[in-house]
Amino acid sequence: MKRLSRVLVTTPFPREALQVLRPYCSQLKVWKNHLTLTRQQLFKEVKGADGLLCLLTDEIDERLMVATPRLKVIANCAVGFDNVDVAAATRHGIMVTNTPGVLTDAAADLTWALLMAVARRIPEADRFLRAGKYKEWEVYLMLGAPVYGRTIGIVGSGRVGAAVALRAMGFQMEVLYTDTFANTRIEKEAGAKRVSLHSLLRKSDFVCIHVPYDKSTYHLIGRRELALMKPSAILINTARGEIVDEKALIQALKSRRIAGAGLDVYEHEPRVPASLNRLANVVLLPHIGSATLETRTKMAVLAAENLVAGLGGRVPPNLVNPEVLAMHK
Ligand code: GLV
Repeated sequence: MKRLSRVLVTTPFPREALQVLRPYCSQLKVWKNHLTLTRQQLFKEVKGADGLLCLLTDEIDERLMVATPRLKVIANCAVGFDNVDVAAATRHGIMVTNTPGVLTDAAADLTWALLMAVARRIPEADRFLRAGKYKEWEVYLMLGAPVYGRTIGIVGSGRVGAAVALRAMGFQMEVLYTDTFANTRIEKEAGAKRVSLHSLLRKSDFVCIHVPYDKSTYHLIGRRELALMKPSAILINTARGEIVDEKALIQALKSRRIAGAGLDVYEHEPRVPASLNRLANVVLLPHIGSATLETRTKMAVLAAENLVAGLGGRVPPNLVNPEVLAMHK
């Protein structure tokens, strides 16, 4: 017989994913508001739950785990899981899962969209036209940076980084990457060369961040790293805001130490510093890397499948803390 569980989903969720959950739930609470639950609401709603399906905006810390002693699985509907204290979850015997793979192409597409938008000043040009400023064709109007045949530097050659690298072949670009392990696929298919971060920063026209955020990548790109970049270079961050020292970046952009930046993520998300907002040489997006209906539905279904697998005593397909299994024997 199926074991029935109590589950909290912290956001209005696609029907396809709720259908996966329903047969396994004695109680399925779905938060009906698109705004993130406050701390107080989260603690109240999660009380007594066996499973929690949450978003990257939900901070899942040890206090919440202590307050929810029945909790067995935390299924994060995101590939990144820096919003969950995984070490604490492991100590409390709680499985943590994420949603890799299904969002790779959407995130790589968005990275390219951002790169092109900054290079060719698309949002600025669009604002210019809508403001009625386009009076006549001009030789020097809205000059941007060339992309074709230039050098792209990929910081982190995991799924998304590799997908961004492979797309660079269409632009005949030289691809540099930095990672702790070699990625033979991008080396073979895109001719990518593995180099140090230092060398990547010095040589790249476009630097794209694709490492996960954890203690080791906090402010990986700071003042010193920005100083290594070419004055004509553009930085793209679609990973996590904390990886880049935002203050140092604003300074580098203001002083034209680098030419521009495209950001989908922020250090204190969703807060965006006013000084960043005022800069013309940046394109700012509201964390929409995976935002296509198809991708978001797949992420939701995968998160639900992870949750029911864990609640049903099976190993979830995307368990991020396998060491927890020893505690379930
Ligand atoms: C998005 O940022 C994700 O981690 O899925």
